[in-house]
This record gives sequence, C-alpha cells and structure tokens, in this order.
Amino acid sequence: METEKAVLTGRGDEEHFERAVRLLLEGELVAFPTETVYGLGALATSEEAVRKIYKAKGRPSDNPLIAHVGTAEEVMKYAADVPNSAKVLMDAFWPGPLTLILKAAPGVFAPSVTAGLDTVGLRMPDHPVALRLLRQLGRPVAAPSANTSGKPSPTSAYHVAADLAGKISYILDGGRTGIGIESTVLDLTSEVPAILRPGAVTAGMLEPLIGPVNGSAEAAEAGVAAPRAPGMKYTHYSPEAPVFIIRPDVGEIREAVDGLHREGRRVALVAPAGFKEAGADWFFPAGKAGDPESVSADLYAALRECDTTDADLILAAAVEDHGIGRAVMNRLNKSAGGKWFGK
Ligand code: TXA
Ligand code: MG
Repeated sequence: METEKAVLTGRGDEEHFERAVRLLLEGELVAFPTETVYGLGALATSEEAVRKIYKAKGRPSDNPLIAHVGTAEEVMKYAADVPNSAKVLMDAFWPGPLTLILKAAPGVFAPSVTAGLDTVGLRMPDHPVALRLLRQLGRPVAAPSANTSGKPSPTSAYHVAADLAGKISYILDGGRTGIGIESTVLDLTSEVPAILRPGAVTAGMLEPLIGPVNGSAEAAEAGVAAPRAPGMKYTHYSPEAPVFIIRPDVGEIREAVDGLHREGRRVALVAPAGFKEAGADWFFPAGKAGDPESVSADLYAALRECDTTDADLILAAAVEDHGIGRAVMNRLNKSAGGKWFGK
C-alpha cells in the first residue's frame, strides 16, 4: 500500500479533508494530528476498518481504543448512560486531553473498539485538524496513537511515516503536536471515578469539579492501588536501547556518564536544555528544567531520536512528580521499565 501524505497549509486544504473523509468511509486508515499525539483513525462503527488498526500497529487486540468525536452532543448517542459528572467534565475540558470511559450504547461501536468491554472511551480532541475531520465525517473515529505498538507515540507526521508508511492510506500533516503525551483516561463507570492513565488534565483539576478521584496523589497515599487501563500493562514508549531514569542534576549525570565511558559504553541523554555539559555522546534536549509541560512536549521526539544513535544506553532526566509532571514520570517509568540509574 502506498501512503499519501497531505501537508496542511490552511489554503486549499479542503480537498485533503474530503479525501480523508472518503477514505475513512471506505474503511481505510487515516492518521491525523491531535493536541496530544497523532492518532491512527478508522471508522469506529466498522469492524473491518478497526481491525486494520490492530494489524498496522501490531497491537494486542485486548487493548480497547478511544473513540473520537467532533461534538459533545454525539456522546448522548454513543454512551448508554451519561452521568452528571461527565457533563460537567465535558463542559470544563472538551475539546481537550481528557478521555471519559462511559457505558457504551449498544450496537454503535465495532466490537474491536471496546475489545469486548461494555464501556467505551470517548474524547473530543482540541486540534483544528482533528475537529474539522471529525465534524466533516459526522461519525466516531477510533484512534490509538499512530505508532508501531511499543514505540514512543508520534508527535509529528514524520514519526507516523517512520512507523507506518506502506501500512496506512493517508497522513494529514498538521505539524508538531502541542502537549506531546496522551490524554488523561478517566473511568466514570466505577463508584469513585478513577484515573486509568495520567495526562495533562490532572487529578487536581478534576477533583474541584467532581470530588475525590482514585489514582490521585491522595488516593495513592491512602493505599488505594491505581487501577489500570488495559493498555497500561504493556511495555510502552520505548526506544531500542535500555532507558534509565536519572535525577536532573548535571553533576550527578556527568558522574554517571564518566563511569559508563570508563566501561566503554556509549550514552545518549534526554534532559532539559542546558544539560549538554554533562558530556553524553548524544544529547537530545527535552524542554526546560523545572518546567514539566515543556518536557512533555519534547519527550517522545527526543526518545525517538535516540534510535538514530549507536548508544548502548539512554539516560532520561526525571521531572517533579506532580501536575503534568506525574504523567511525564508515568511515561518515563514505562519506557525505562521502572529502572533508575545506579539503583
Ligand atoms: O491522547 C490520546 O488519548 C491519543 C490521541 C490519538 O487521542 N490516543 C491514545 O490512544 O493514546 P491509545 O489507544 O494509545 O490509548 C488508549 C488508552 C489505553 O490505555 C486503553 O487501554 C484505554 O485508553 N482505554 C480505552 N478504552 C477503554 C475502556 N473502555 N476501558 C478502560 N480503558 C480503556
Ligand atoms: Mg498508544
């Protein structure tokens, strides 16, 4: 299959959107930008189309997909039950990086969207390209991140093509995504709402509106084990060389790099700008020190860059574990398999 890429410029884009809508209706795969990461879209009502997603990504089929919508009104048709908390959160955070798990309306979604569960993840992305595509189509689009399963999610059309060229029909290129890590996944079907995957919408932003949320810092302290989205059990977000997390301290990193060099090992470093002086063989800057939001925006691209090197090992600088920093640490822990350097 040949993958066409449409670079969106704002002028004359109409034909690209028309083509993308037509391909989706024909059951083909179309990648598109969102404010978090690029999504790999298929018509969520077509089993045949959705199965192509799992095949192209090499994704385990027990891992359900998020259905993307262009308007909040559609949720009334796609969910069997829309609690008041969902309405409040849609008002506050949609369009935006918050996925709500609700009871699915029967007969709407292809079985592979929900992976056999009676719930569905719904999200309205905050990106002009995604919204225009979804509104023109007027149907839900199942879209996981548009990467090969296990690789860092794509934050540019270039990353999408690197993983999926030849396997999908079309890429809408809207430039770099903004937030850089995937949406917060919030389960509203449990008695106490639960964060299944942390993202840019934090527990601290949710709790003033809907009360206590499991998976928040408070819940963790109270010993409530954070529940897991099915997808969270897989190794994820990983470049080829092993990743180790390290404290964001230039002196400490320099010592680690010197020690590794004495053992003849070559090191790639992913850390905020300014950490170049730590002396790693390759340095891929990710954000600014003390600013987890900027790290989030750059993290996946930097981890992917590590695959262009011959590094034996990757050091990745930690960020503070609160606010969006919690989501960044969640992804870093996944890509490092929880390993810290020297521990
Ligand atoms: O930011 C995002 O959410 C991106 C963009 C493209 O929208 N999408 C994304 O999709 O990250 P994906 O498929 O890579 O991650 C979906 C996550 C997985 O962890 C999955 O297990 C969870 O949401 N999920 C989906 N439906 C669920 C359900 N019904 N119950 C529990 N977890 C669910
Ligand atoms: Mg993903």
